Amino acid sequence: MKVLVVGSGGREHAICWKIAQSPKVDKIYCAPGNAGIAEVAECIDIKAMEFDKLVAFAKNNAIDLTVVGMDDPLVGGIVDVFEAEGLRVFGPRKNAAILEGSKAFSKDLMKKYNIPTAAYETFTSAEDAKTYLETAKYPIVLKADGLALGKGVLICMTKEEAMDGVQELMTDKKFGAAGNTIVIEEFMTGREISVLSFVDGNSIQIMSSAQDHKRALDGDQGLNTGGMGNFSPSPFYTDEVDAFCKKYIYQATVDAMKAEGREFKGVIFFGLMLTEDGPKVLEYNARFGDPEAQVVLPRMKNDIIDVFEACIDGTLDQIDLQFEDNACVCVVLASDGYPVEYEKGFEIYGAENFKNKEGYYLFHAGTKFNEEGKVVTNGGRVLGVTALGKTLKEARANAYEATEWVGFENKYMRHDIGKAIDEA
Ligand code: AMP
Ligand code: GLY
Repeated sequence: MKVLVVGSGGREHAICWKIAQSPKVDKIYCAPGNAGIAEVAECIDIKAMEFDKLVAFAKNNAIDLTVVGMDDPLVGGIVDVFEAEGLRVFGPRKNAAILEGSKAFSKDLMKKYNIPTAAYETFTSAEDAKTYLETAKYPIVLKADGLALGKGVLICMTKEEAMDGVQELMTDKKFGAAGNTIVIEEFMTGREISVLSFVDGNSIQIMSSAQDHKRALDGDQGLNTGGMGNFSPSPFYTDEVDAFCKKYIYQATVDAMKAEGREFKGVIFFGLMLTEDGPKVLEYNARFGDPEAQVVLPRMKNDIIDVFEACIDGTLDQIDLQFEDNACVCVVLASDGYPVEYEKGFEIYGAENFKNKEGYYLFHAGTKFNEEGKVVTNGGRVLGVTALGKTLKEARANAYEATEWVGFENKYMRHDIGKAIDEA
């Protein structure tokens, strides 16, 4: 079969790599892809939001299945557009992708269906938000309702910071319309875990857990980023946590979406915080995580095509989802200055060191070919150096060793990815 993947990040590289393992697949295309994805797929020059061009490509090339990796096209309704043309596509429709697309929606859903999450209020006027902040408890969390490249969440230690935050999000519109509505939420403390799942509208199957490192600098300092590295499984995702989430969060979310007439098919990513009062949902995403996909998919035993098809056909309960009893660590190599300002266009050297190295993966994120055909940096997060190991410690040692195999001029990485492993 022929498969089209939509996206261009490290996540889509991992998805393409995993699809390429399937004996059912003859050809993979990726739109728009990147220089690394080009090793496993044919990259086509169509952007993820160009739905009409993507549909035309899928029809003209007899694509059997399209897999959408990114949030923007999902929230924008790409799945509805493909389905209307009779094309097979993996991902939630627009009315279900709202689970990620609107924080006000997801908070209201959790409240209505008693799914554990932080207490919150929603505001559509800056004035009302500021009045509320006068008597609120600090620290407090401000969230832009809509998509904001993972940067629309502000943790405010003081009233002054929060007032400035409302100004930024609602009045100055730093993230555009995403800040027309904001959620103001109770600050929670605890360890964060990412749990990805496959959903077929009715049933849900949980993938192995992962733990992300969102802050830019060592010691969880600096600004929030898309993710600077992570590991799977999380030793803090215990049987007890699993049992709690199965009882109160996972199926409850799928059932709630169905009850609202918003049947969800695709991947639900549960951003969980393990608080003193038990696990609570920090956020939902309607797609694989990046870089969660990079550490979870190399450990997945199943043919991913079977799982995608089962989600679309509503037969997920017939899949026996299995993961290797090993561990995986991904260290992101970023451009120095990310997530604020950074230079791009530097040549990447050493990628060939990953060829034929079993258990080591170099997932490309912001990379491209320059005019001379050389692979150069083309984004904030550039590469995800990923390695397997029998244990988390071994996987971490392998991943950090491999970060030395590849380089570019303004290479930056965190040195403490997986430090929590030592505390487990
Ligand atoms: P989100 O995009 O909602 O996951 O938020 C981004 C990050 O902000 C999360 O990964 C947490 O580290 C942090 N965060 C979000 N909500 C809260 C909260 N209620 N309390 C504490 N930290 C939070
Ligand atoms: N790594 C977090 C995310 O993909 O949203």
